[in-house]
Amino acid sequence: SLARPNTVLARAGFTSGFGVLAATLGSAVGLGNIWKFPYLTGANGGASFLLVYVLATLLVGLPVMMAEISLGRVGKANPISTLQALAPKGQPWWLIGVAGMLGAFLILSFYSEVVAWVFAYVVKAMRGSILSSDPQVTGAAFNALISDPMQSLLWQWGVLLFIGGILLMGVTKGIEAVTKKLMPILFLLLLLLCAVSLSLDKAWEGLVFLFHPDFSKITASVVLTAMGLAFFKLSIGMGTMMTYGSYFRDDQNIPLTTLRVMAADLSISMLAGIAIFPAVFTFGFAPTAGPSLVFITIPAVFSQIPMGQSLMVVFFVLAAIAATGAMLSLMEVPVVILHERLGLTRPKATLLTIFLLVILGSTSALSNSTLADFKLFGMTPFDLFDFVSSNIILPGGGIFIALFVGWVWGFDKFGGALTNKGHLQNQKVAQAVFFLLRYVSPALILVVMLKGLNLF
Ligand code: PFF
Repeated sequence: SLARPNTVLARAGFTSGFGVLAATLGSAVGLGNIWKFPYLTGANGGASFLLVYVLATLLVGLPVMMAEISLGRVGKANPISTLQALAPKGQPWWLIGVAGMLGAFLILSFYSEVVAWVFAYVVKAMRGSILSSDPQVTGAAFNALISDPMQSLLWQWGVLLFIGGILLMGVTKGIEAVTKKLMPILFLLLLLLCAVSLSLDKAWEGLVFLFHPDFSKITASVVLTAMGLAFFKLSIGMGTMMTYGSYFRDDQNIPLTTLRVMAADLSISMLAGIAIFPAVFTFGFAPTAGPSLVFITIPAVFSQIPMGQSLMVVFFVLAAIAATGAMLSLMEVPVVILHERLGLTRPKATLLTIFLLVILGSTSALSNSTLADFKLFGMTPFDLFDFVSSNIILPGGGIFIALFVGWVWGFDKFGGALTNKGHLQNQKVAQAVFFLLRYVSPALILVVMLKGLNLF
């Protein structure tokens, strides 16, 4: 069973400093930046939402991310085995790893479907079939895709096989090698789109919207949304960063890597906002369109600028690249758990993960067609998985990870990991982060969760 002690297996890992950065940043950067961040910021008050999100990232996101990476690097195993090995005998902290694996499946179920739309849109953009200046038309095109059960399922299966194929090549030749090539391309494409967007007539209005705060919009549930986004963005609270930490080399500087990933990830979100909002405003569309923003508004916007079709291909290729690194890290969690805990070979563990996702993911894929009327707590499976993962599982996992490091693992071991046993000058950082983990992050997360979910 999953509670059985770990069989010792030779493990691969990331080989270079740049490889670590590319893979870790590749996990953080994803549809969170290009799909979620813009529409959430657009709908929740612009700059004031951004401010809360950045605060959550600093007070909660950074400490939990450093905690996870440290645990992983010291444990050198999947999250369940790591927590089992580092906790005192008989204490069930390994359940965090089990919850994380379930969280990975829930996120993958809806995430793989959004990636499916992105991949479908790459092809549609190349064909030019979705280009129209009329949002009615682009909206109808999007609805035709998501309400077609066959297309929704087939694109999703295609995505799962594609990502599974990269994982079959392994941690070093698959994840590390692919993200090392993709991340620089992503950055260049994004800069190109920003330049185009900023050259438009009403670029200024878009920037004002993005950077102008509307504090009246900040409610408890908006704060929870911002904190949930901070977790989702940094891929923390469910063992992903613990898993990647287990592939870090022992000489890797954990605080520095974490800071770099956070800063680059935030920049990419801002650049995505800069690429999208000036264009949205120039052509008079609503920034508050919600999840369909990039699929309905973007095609309508691009149909009105020179070389729009090529630029739209660029946009969706960029989104596909971002999504690939994130999907790899999400699927790696169950793959490595099934591999190391159940003793399946990596290929078998990968195939089993794909198989389970084909089943669970179909509930998300069919949420806009066959299962549209099937609601739990008033939400379709797609919306429910999205809501539960960002607002409950990731923050909940974050609380227990922080408590584990702050109260069980202790300062000596955590500080040892952050300073590489005293070889790096991170002592002050380690003390500050440990303080946050022990006293601040868990309480803060709990209060935001309870208030945001309206529980007290
Ligand atoms: N960080 C990814 C994004 O922002 O798109 C999503 C994600 C990846 C969430 C991995 C959680 C995770 F474990």
